[in-house]
Amino acid sequence: MSGDHPTALRVAQSAISNTSQTAFGIVVMIDDALTVCPEPSSKIVGRAQGIYASADLSQAALLMVMNYVFVEGKYNGSTLSILGRNSVFLAARELPIVGGSGLFRFARGYAFAKTYFINTSNGDAVVEYNVYVQQY
Ligand SMILES: *[C@@H]1O[C@H](CO)[C@@H](O)[C@H](O)[C@H]1NC(C)=O
Ligand SMILES: *[C@@H]1O[C@H](CO)[C@@H](O)[C@H](O)[C@H]1NC(C)=O
Ligand SMILES: *[C@@H]1O[C@H](CO)[C@@H](O)[C@H](O)[C@H]1NC(C)=O
Repeated sequence: MSGDHPTALRVAQSAISNTSQTAFGIVVMIDDALTVCPEPSSKIVGRAQGIYASADLSQAALLMVMNYVFVEGKYNGSTLSILGRNSVFLAARELPIVGGSGLFRFARGYAFAKTYFINTSNGDAVVEYNVYVQQY
């Protein structure tokens, strides 16, 4: 979120977002790097593109709508689509994989998300996603 080239940008908020404990109504558009390892210098294998929004008035929980767009190897050009609830302060969050394209056509599954690093002052974060999909 910080730096000269942020890949996550707030695009909208509600009238109460700034006073809400959960920043309810904030909408963030992302085009984040998907890397093999947590280090920012790690090999990029795709992008996580989409939208997340603070969707719970009383707990920190996001509605996440995003596509993983792979750019490497045989999955280059294939995508996986995620639609789910992300309780960001839970140690592990489960998000449904609702579909895919290319080699992931008809994919179904789930992703486990774990925060690897977060800087609460500027919002920068590294999140580990372990993804399980069935293909046909
Ligand atoms: C909330 O804070 C942001 C960032 O400081 C500001 O741009 C926005 O105008 C504020 N929104 C309201 C409704 O006060
Ligand atoms: C992935 O596909 C794009 C578009 O077809 C191509 O330009 C690019 O070179 C490919 N990348 C790799 C690593 O194969
Ligand atoms: C967290 O963000 C603050 C504000 O941008 C910065 O000063 C600090 O160095 C960052 N800490 C880490 C560990 O990245």
